[in-house]
Amino acid sequence: MALRNVVKIGESSLRKKSKPVKDFDESLWELLDDMKETMYQNDGMGLAAPQVGVLRRAIVIDVNGMFAELINPEIISQKGEDIEEEGCLSVENFRGRVKRPYEITVKACDRYGYPFTLKGEKWLARCICHEVDHLDGILFVDKSLDKDKYIKQGGSL
Ligand code: NI
Repeated sequence: MALRNVVKIGESSLRKKSKPVKDFDESLWELLDDMKETMYQNDGMGLAAPQVGVLRRAIVIDVNGMFAELINPEIISQKGEDIEEEGCLSVENFRGRVKRPYEITVKACDRYGYPFTLKGEKWLARCICHEVDHLDGILFVDKSLDKDKYIKQGGSL
């Protein structure tokens, strides 16, 4: 495993749409292992492949001690609303409130290509939504209720 550099906001690659993973092979496993290590090293709750410069639909999360890898994740249902403050390893020196669904169901594959479905509430739901947004080039500041504050403090988009 190796640490990878985290791409920061302002880099155009963070705004691109990632492509689905097709090959569930060793290079994917190496990517996932590196993402896990990079997430833990930076005290993150989640990390998406584009944040380490790889435009593929893969995310890792760790919410309340539950680690998971989701490949080609698709949010298939959502319920309720929840507002909490979020941060992002690609956005330094800013945290802001974001409205997210309270509960989601996500369909994804594991690292071997086997499909599974996961239901998450509150922070698990929030974290998955945040990371899936990364795969579409969306950052939490775009949706933040505190976006004005971010812009005022000179934050880039
Ligand atoms: Ni993020």
